[in-house]
Amino acid sequence: MTKVLSVASECAPLVKTGGLADVAGALPAALAPLGVEMRTLLPGYPAVMSALGAGHVVASFDCFGGSARLLSGMAAGLDLFVLDAPHLFDRDAGIYLNADGQDWPDNPERFAAMCRVAADIAGGTLGEWAPDLVHCHDWQAGLVPYYLKRDAVPVPSVLTIHNIAFQGLVPMDRAGALGIAIADLNRDGVEYWGQISALKAGLIRADHLTTVSPTYARELMTAEFGMGLDGVLRARRADLSGILNGIDLDVWSPSADAHVRPYKTPRGKVANKVALREEFGLPGAEGPLCVVVSRLTEQKGLDLLLEALPALLDRGGQLALLGSGDPGLEAAFANYDHPNVAARIGYDEALSHRMMAGGDAILVPSRFEPCGLTQLYGLQYGTLPVVALTGGLADTVIPATPATMAKEVATGLQFHPITADALSNALAQLCDLFERPKMWSKMQRNAMAHPVGWAPSAAAYAALYADLTKAAG
Ligand code: ADP
Ligand code: GLC
Repeated sequence: MTKVLSVASECAPLVKTGGLADVAGALPAALAPLGVEMRTLLPGYPAVMSALGAGHVVASFDCFGGSARLLSGMAAGLDLFVLDAPHLFDRDAGIYLNADGQDWPDNPERFAAMCRVAADIAGGTLGEWAPDLVHCHDWQAGLVPYYLKRDAVPVPSVLTIHNIAFQGLVPMDRAGALGIAIADLNRDGVEYWGQISALKAGLIRADHLTTVSPTYARELMTAEFGMGLDGVLRARRADLSGILNGIDLDVWSPSADAHVRPYKTPRGKVANKVALREEFGLPGAEGPLCVVVSRLTEQKGLDLLLEALPALLDRGGQLALLGSGDPGLEAAFANYDHPNVAARIGYDEALSHRMMAGGDAILVPSRFEPCGLTQLYGLQYGTLPVVALTGGLADTVIPATPATMAKEVATGLQFHPITADALSNALAQLCDLFERPKMWSKMQRNAMAHPVGWAPSAAAYAALYADLTKAAG
């Protein structure tokens, strides 16, 4: 048994803002059959505290100006450590943002507290349980490898980059409070353009770095995608690998999904489509019903979709969108004046399932996409993905080309460059394909047969953990 402590700022189904939560929530069960015992350390947000119930107090201490407890217990089938520090985590509004949509000003300290506790657990302070390896996710866990090395804790660490756009920037004058040495406040250390980056602290100190697709691993080392950290990543090229995300098939399987009218073949989508149209108030139409389930941010390229939509609508296609984020994009979709466009602004897990089941195609026009999960749900539900050729989208969709169509292996469409024009062309191609029912249903069957579960990637993580723990002796 390899014991692994997973350190994450969100974890489905307990608390989720994006795909990181899905991954952190799915890994423990995917790894268990491979001899990995994974426990997850989470901040004690209200949702986590109520799911945990009483828990078991394993430590009490002072932490960034307040008293804190470390609890252990199970919730939603996950083996958890929870940092109960009400002055840091017992807040209304978002887990990262306040009610005005601004970062909580003490985010660096909130997540440094989580990292401090992770390093202490790895250092053996609990006695009863200590990990052989720590797996850290994104900037919020970036200080874990830093603290481990600073304190000479001989436990190896892996840092997974889910999204390099978030770097955990902190003004230099907070270095002391965060336990960062003055000697590290430079370009070879944790400094990023005059500030401290918690992500960079992890990138330079973790024993191994991963990201969530092979293509994004390559892209990250370029100036175009590295967001200023490409040089750091090129320097660590030998320790960087891309391991594709899977999806949790217990949650996302059309034949056993309690949120939808279950189906095993594409034919079963018809009833779901009728219901989805009704739910969104969309009329019957000739063209494909396209869906989007997304954060509405620059990354996701949905401004390009606004420009390209006429290519779909002119052919009798439809759009149903579920998302929230940028107020300008929210308003643009909510107020789009066309009978074949409908938007729900908000976050709704159950509706996202119904959209996967009822849609003909899912649109993911991201400018960059480390992995992307919704195109994987789309494949699994026979909802053909139309994706930008980038990151994990490039690694998971087999685009319809003359060659792949002749071989009957295509599962979706890819477009490049990532512009409104190229997206318009892809939407026109989608409408052409939709008029060829035999080809369309072949693509749906290919999509549904495409492997999207965790098995191969869980094996890759388990092999990585084994290598690192062996090297650490
Ligand atoms: P990212 O993590 O960059 O947001 P991913 O595609 O990896 O992108 O993961 C997004 C996850 O969040 C998916 O599980 C998706 O279904 C979910 N999601 C995004 N927006 C919404 C929403 N408005 N309602 C429900 N689920 C959403
Ligand atoms: C990030 C990325 C997304 C990825 C997810 C889980 O939020 O934007 O592409 O799928 O993390 O790894």
